[in-house]
Amino acid sequence: MKLVGISGSLIGSKTSKVVYEVLMAIKTADPTINIELIDLKDYEVEFVKGTPLSYYNEDTINVVNTIQSADFLVFGTPIYQASITGVLKNLFDHMPIDAFKSKVTAMVTTGGTDKHFLVTEYHLKPILSYLKGVVPVGNVFVQNDDFNEENEIKNTEVSSRIQKLAKEMLLLQKALNKDQE
Ligand SMILES: Cc1cc2nc3c(=O)[nH]c(=O)nc-3n(C[C@H](O)[C@H](O)[C@H](O)COP(=O)(O)O)c2cc1C
Repeated sequence: MKLVGISGSLIGSKTSKVVYEVLMAIKTADPTINIELIDLKDYEVEFVKGTPLSYYNEDTINVVNTIQSADFLVFGTPIYQASITGVLKNLFDHMPIDAFKSKVTAMVTTGGTDKHFLVTEYHLKPILSYLKGVVPVGNVFVQNDDFNEENEIKNTEVSSRIQKLAKEMLLLQKALNKDQE
């Protein structure tokens, strides 16, 4: 199985760090799983214009195709102005409407404080559900105080939420695969 993580930040590294930790927790639990992290700051994904995918640049085509080749996914976003980032929303706009059918699509959010932790439920989850993703009950929200100066997660509760999410994702995806057999 292939698991792809996406980090929707173009400047910081907290979101990619947490998404990477989720990928590693799953890889540790099941080493047969191939993992890949797409950090959107490494790609020039073009704004959606409504044309077919082949009209866009190579980065855009590669990112969309890598996401579509995944068996399951974890989407990470910093909270920007009480919502997800524009760069992540733009990426979702590139996806066909059944892009995540029978795929677990997990959520990771980072924020300056805990003021906007419900953005995960109210802004990110409806998009994943619309694209037919199976969204786990658990998610991981991390605020800036949960990191130390080396950008490592110092809050052990966050680490345990990462482990729980990894477990739930594996359980759900394996059940979905069985259902397809
Ligand atoms: C333009 C901008 C808007 C932001 N808006 C919010 C916000 O509304 N609520 C919040 O809790 N944090 C907000 N933040 C803080 C980021 O969500 C937070 O620092 C996050 O950890 C950054 O993640 P990154 O290191 O992956 O970029 C904002 C940051 C920026 C740059």
